[in-house]
Amino acid sequence: MLRVALIGCGAIGSSMLELLRSDAGLRIVAIVVPASGSEAARDVARRFAPEALVQDSVPAEGIDLVVEAAGHAAIEEHVLAALARGTPCLVASVGALSAAGLPERLEAAARAGGTQVQLIAGAIGAIDALAAAGTGGLDTVRYTGRKPPSAWKGTPAEHGRNLDALTQATVIFEGSAREASALYPKNANVAATVSLAGLGLDRTQVRLVADPAVTDNVHTVEAQGAFGQFELTMRNKPLAANPKTSALTVYSAVRALRNRAAPLCI
Ligand SMILES: NC(=O)c1ccc[n+]([C@@H]2O[C@H](COP(=O)([O-])OP(=O)(O)OC[C@H]3O[C@@H](n4cnc5c(N)ncnc54)[C@H](O)[C@@H]3O)[C@@H](O)[C@H]2O)c1
Repeated sequence: MLRVALIGCGAIGSSMLELLRSDAGLRIVAIVVPASGSEAARDVARRFAPEALVQDSVPAEGIDLVVEAAGHAAIEEHVLAALARGTPCLVASVGALSAAGLPERLEAAARAGGTQVQLIAGAIGAIDALAAAGTGGLDTVRYTGRKPPSAWKGTPAEHGRNLDALTQATVIFEGSAREASALYPKNANVAATVSLAGLGLDRTQVRLVADPAVTDNVHTVEAQGAFGQFELTMRNKPLAANPKTSALTVYSAVRALRNRAAPLCI
């Protein structure tokens, strides 16, 4: 029985708890949220994880695995310390690793604790193929994120442009994954995941497109290298129970967690 602490109980965390409520091989024993989120987390816990304690830090003992679905601050506050104590961690907020020095600090904490931090694939697929291809050498990796114009409101895409007036697909950003993460942090998770699996934040090309012809978020990854070439396009649907998040991100986190408890995993 794997005893798990879940950090964050928002769109992803609460949907994970719902999916995991009947799993025999693992038990969510702690839900870690700041005081401001504790009432909402208790409500979710009552429905899906009645045995879990809602608290503001990861218990120092009795935890086999930590799962983060909360954001950059939670990695700083909880994940680094858990790793240093020797508790393995799964991280969903991969975009946070675009911050200078954070990947190195996570590595150092995991090394000090003799454990491992795993970044989940989240909303994007083919991360296994991309990372394997890197072993033989990658030449180019390009990620294109395509969303309806309204989805780019409140971002630098609005500078000098009326998003409501767009009648055709318009490239709103082209540059490195590092620049993309800084300018468009809400898009940072997929760009960072593709980068960390492949050519890194500076050599991964990112293109962001406002497209009046699409209604979903469309992710495309194109990679070339010694292995050959691939193109992946994903049109992710929101989770029925929680339209704020893409279903695949939740499924990816649940799968990563179940793999830790399963005698055979893929
Ligand atoms: N890897 C991916 O593909 C992918 C996709 C979508 C979202 N994400 C990331 O997953 C994370 C969670 O997303 P969400 O939609 O569930 O967010 P959300 O805002 O719905 O929920 C966040 C939860 O974290 C809690 N929280 C905030 N700060 C915290 C802290 N310092 N310590 C502990 N808990 C804290 C909040 O109380 C809340 O319960 C975000 O960082 C988001 O960027 C990753």
